[in-house]
Amino acid sequence: MRKPKEKLKKSMEGNKKILESVKYKPYFSKGNFVLYNADCLKILEQLPENSIDMIFADPPYLLSNGGFTVHAGKMVSVNKGQWDVSNGLKKDFEFHLEWTKACHRVLKPGGTIWISGTYHSIYQCGFALQVNKFHILNDITWFKPNASPNLSCRFFTASHETLVWARKDKKGKHKFNYEEMKNGAWANDFLKKPNKQMRSVWAIGTPKTEEKKFGKHPTQKPVDLLVRIVVASTDKGDLVLDPFTGSSTTGIAAHLNGRKFIGVDLEKKYLDLSAKRYNDLKEGLL
Ligand SMILES: C[S@@+](CC[C@H](N)C(=O)[O-])C[C@H]1O[C@@H](n2cnc3c(N)ncnc32)[C@H](O)[C@@H]1O
Repeated sequence: MRKPKEKLKKSMEGNKKILESVKYKPYFSKGNFVLYNADCLKILEQLPENSIDMIFADPPYLLSNGGFTVHAGKMVSVNKGQWDVSNGLKKDFEFHLEWTKACHRVLKPGGTIWISGTYHSIYQCGFALQVNKFHILNDITWFKPNASPNLSCRFFTASHETLVWARKDKKGKHKFNYEEMKNGAWANDFLKKPNKQMRSVWAIGTPKTEEKKFGKHPTQKPVDLLVRIVVASTDKGDLVLDPFTGSSTTGIAAHLNGRKFIGVDLEKKYLDLSAKRYNDLKEGLL
């Protein structure tokens, strides 16, 4: 059997080959942290088949159509940018079908995908996964104990997002680091009891001030959430892809835990933020 160090070296060489197949010049590349400024479909079509261990995708919720929400107790517009504008139910679903299909091709057999969303998008994404023959493993409720109040007082206060976790195929073996989930350091989550199985409801606050010190992305995810996802479903040296990387919270969690990372985003300003966050990190474990 190959020793762990040799195995890691081999996987790093493999990563170089994978990146060589992408004809786009990376927008940022340091160590095993690579960012592309492009439509994710363009990058996905150039990546080799069966090359990625895990994908985390936080696709646009397609909500920026002139509405309002509450932030820090104030009414603010939900308009996040052109990338978040809905094109109607049918076209939005076609978009989810297309990118999930492209993700299916690049995932290794047994590789998994996570998609995050709210009720506005997550059911469409889940159905798109099923149409593309993914096998759904779990849905996770990410409960936000510090969610903003509902000012209209006409609805329940939205305080969670849903994550769907799925494997490439019905058959096959996926990675699940059961022991680390059960006995890892998850003390910040008041729902997780020590030495008990990790359940499917996770209590994790919205991003900490420290995580926004270089500026923030309008839909930035907390590092704690992505660390749990990366640790649960990958091993050291694995290659993680985020096709809608934004401020690259996925990449930060991947790097901190010794995983390789490819992120893609349409907007340079979010990749600049990603690069600042990466440069600020203390050396990862690799
Ligand atoms: C919901 S945000 C992701 C936020 C990210 N999880 C974080 O923690 O910062 C979605 C991102 O996808 C990008 N985006 C939208 N459509 C895209 C596309 N077709 N290809 C690549 N990026 C896209 C947007 O610019 C936006 O930054």
